[in-house]
Amino acid sequence: MEPQQTPPAGPHRRIALLPGDGIGPEIVDASRALIAECFPSWELLDADIGWSQWCTRGNPVPQETWDILDSCDAGLMAAITSKPAREAEAELAKHLRGTGLTYRSPILQVRQRMDLYANVRPVTPGQASDTARNAADFTIIRENTEGLYSHDYLLPPHDAPTGSPHHGLWAEVGGDSTVVRAVDKQGDVAVSLRVTTTFGWQRLARAAARMAIARHAANPERATTMMVTVADKPNVLRESARVIRGAVEAVAEEFPQVTFEFANADVVAMHMVTDPGRFDVIIAENLIGDILSDIGAGLIGGLGLAASGNIGDEFALFEPVHGSAPDIAGRGIANPAAFLLSAAMCAEHLGGSGATDGQGISDGQRELGSGGRGEPSAEMTAAARLRAAVYTAVSSTPTPDLGGSATTAEFVAEVRKAL
Ligand code: NAI
Ligand code: MG
Repeated sequence: MEPQQTPPAGPHRRIALLPGDGIGPEIVDASRALIAECFPSWELLDADIGWSQWCTRGNPVPQETWDILDSCDAGLMAAITSKPAREAEAELAKHLRGTGLTYRSPILQVRQRMDLYANVRPVTPGQASDTARNAADFTIIRENTEGLYSHDYLLPPHDAPTGSPHHGLWAEVGGDSTVVRAVDKQGDVAVSLRVTTTFGWQRLARAAARMAIARHAANPERATTMMVTVADKPNVLRESARVIRGAVEAVAEEFPQVTFEFANADVVAMHMVTDPGRFDVIIAENLIGDILSDIGAGLIGGLGLAASGNIGDEFALFEPVHGSAPDIAGRGIANPAAFLLSAAMCAEHLGGSGATDGQGISDGQRELGSGGRGEPSAEMTAAARLRAAVYTAVSSTPTPDLGGSATTAEFVAEVRKAL
């Protein structure tokens, strides 16, 4: 390669690099040098996470990984495997079985422990190939620390001695006829709690409003602009939805320029497909946001292209929306685009304001950066170059998930050429 004029590298950053499971390590192996080249100020610190750590050590997030995360400015994760309880016990190393260890999804642990409350998932078409994709240009921010993923567990037997954990819940759920039937048959009863707090929803609504303002500043011509859609189920999950609504309405008063609308999540799912142009920023609780954002990934060309950030006030972890793809792992054909685009999001986040205070969370920062408020930082410039090069490779050298035949390594080589 010709020696090229490199922009100033920017401040030194420590970035935790978490390859994880399945296609994760393949993607990281192929991309590491490219990322180091794009972001010369980044010191990449490898850390173990995921199913392999659970199976061999009984802990999907080992202590040294927490130490690395705690010492870094941000993290970049490729993919992890999570499996249900039965497999978790069966695949655990022999000497660890029956020792009372329980598996908890490592990504959920990281999100909750590091308080990464805003899961930003941009639905921005990088390559316009049909009308729906052309019209889709919005961002989903999924609440990442509470909601339906907060707590899910088996109730103790209903006739267990009082005083056992969660015993009082029987009185709560027992009024429901389905549960009464289950009790009669002595079947198991499990409960998921949709923990919903005013605190959690006020900070999420603020992040969404700032994002909407940043998106508008970057592109005032957008048809739907400065609008936050709250996608929820207020007619069914009435009490938790009431907390959400109250919190969002209070925040709405702080942002008179932003329109907030409340919509049923199922209708939002349909409109994302039939009329994606009507959205600007969508916020939703954990499970609903998880599902909506996969529809979003479908709109922009599939999981191979969908990037995301888990953003908190102190730390942020960027990752593709996809999982470890066991069906294609080991074949060298995984699409690394979503991972590379997540690295670009990470740079935009760090280079936008240098702070992770929710002020223009990632996507907003990128657009502000390119929207011409002062000189974009070195990281912003490098991120924009990487992003453009990834989309060039998506068009010229697609991997099999996009209808092509390129390998992971060939795709990355093409990105490097396009830089
Ligand atoms: P998945 O995202 O791993 O795969 C879904 C489909 O998309 C598969 O057909 C796969 O081959 C394809 N795909 C995904 N990423 C791709 C890429 N980069 N290039 C080409 N094709 C790609 O979802 P699935 O199969 O439901 O889950 C597999 C494992 O991943 C599970 O253990 C699951 O728990 C975990 N997972 C983890 C996530 C996370 O860490 N945030 C998110 C989703 C799943
Ligand atoms: Mg998902």
